[in-house]
Amino acid sequence: MSVKYIPVQWNRNKWLYDAVMLAGVIVFLWLFLFISPELLSHEFPLNPQIHNARAFGACAFVMLTVILCIGPLARIDRRFLPLLYNRRHFGVMTLFVAITHASYIMNWYFAFSSSDRYEALLFANTSYGQLAGFPFEFFGIFSLLCLAILATTSHDFWMKFLTPPVWKHIHSLIYFAYVSVVAHVTLGVLQDQQNHTFTVIFTGGALAVAGLHAYAAIYERRHGDRLGVDVDGWIDVCSVAEMRDGFAKIKILANGERVAVFRQAGTLSAISNACAHQNGPLGEGRVLDCLVTCPWHGFQYDVTNGRSPAPFTEMVPTYNIRLSGAVVQVHRDANPPGTFVEPVKIEAAA
Ligand code: HEM
Ligand code: FES
Repeated sequence: MSVKYIPVQWNRNKWLYDAVMLAGVIVFLWLFLFISPELLSHEFPLNPQIHNARAFGACAFVMLTVILCIGPLARIDRRFLPLLYNRRHFGVMTLFVAITHASYIMNWYFAFSSSDRYEALLFANTSYGQLAGFPFEFFGIFSLLCLAILATTSHDFWMKFLTPPVWKHIHSLIYFAYVSVVAHVTLGVLQDQQNHTFTVIFTGGALAVAGLHAYAAIYERRHGDRLGVDVDGWIDVCSVAEMRDGFAKIKILANGERVAVFRQAGTLSAISNACAHQNGPLGEGRVLDCLVTCPWHGFQYDVTNGRSPAPFTEMVPTYNIRLSGAVVQVHRDANPPGTFVEPVKIEAAA
């Protein structure tokens, strides 16, 4: 926690996460390049340059697919949460794999062009008006740009500088990057293929992303996470008996914001689930003496006013809370960060 910006510390989990990820990339490339090179073969003889480009392109696509599956998986089953925490490292590594793919392409297809190869890339094929033969590299370039923006702004400094909501909006670019890669591969590679390995990886990946997102949305609706709103904007969270002392229930409002409702020492309080540091899930932290500790990097907040204890200055929004019989309810409108809300006494009101 800080009174000014401090860089995020590395910890054992992050090293482990990165090591497993790197091992996965190496195994994937090794499998495609050396164990079964014919898996990525083409109807015309493949030279090593193109074979490498294909292996790195396929790897970048699979990595992007996994990144987009982690979000819905973590919403369906909490055991996937550790994958979510260091997802940004995954994104940065994907950028490097995608750059390697593009470099192989540039150094082969455009290496012998008499004009500048970056100009050749953009102007060699301008058949934008037709589907077969469309310059599909354009979509690859767009995805690469998106990944580059995401990777450069992924550092903690940018989160602080841009503020978490702006940062979150910028990072939605990942979906455009993915759709663009799907267009890149559909228009380019799948059109002239005889070997179907890539078609299987590609179709399976794209279906997994779309299917998991749809399933997670249905799952949340069925399990009552996304809540109904009554006329005054009060929303049911759960029955008070379902809450454990020292822990929270996390609920998603209709606008997508997450609220962490805490029970501690016979009272209830509600603050935003998103930590002011890096959006860590506060509702998964333990609360002691009114202070909840963020499970990601240890920032603390008083659950009655959303403020970090002095001399720290971080603040998160609070929510008004009440008991309706035995049902805990929060108000859908967040209070400005740092606003005190009187904790609700369970015995008195229930
Ligand atoms: C400057 C950006 C890019 C350019 C110029 C580019 C260009 C190309 C070209 C020319 C091919 C066809 C290779 C062949 O003839 O076999 C290709 C294939 C492919 N690209 Fe890209 N690409 C770019 C970025 C990306 C990115 C960012 C990704 C993924 C994240 C990607 C994923 C793929 C995949 C999966 C293939 C299919 C590999 C195959 O089986 O041939 N590309 N790309
Ligand atoms: S302490 Fe880093 S996200 Fe909460």
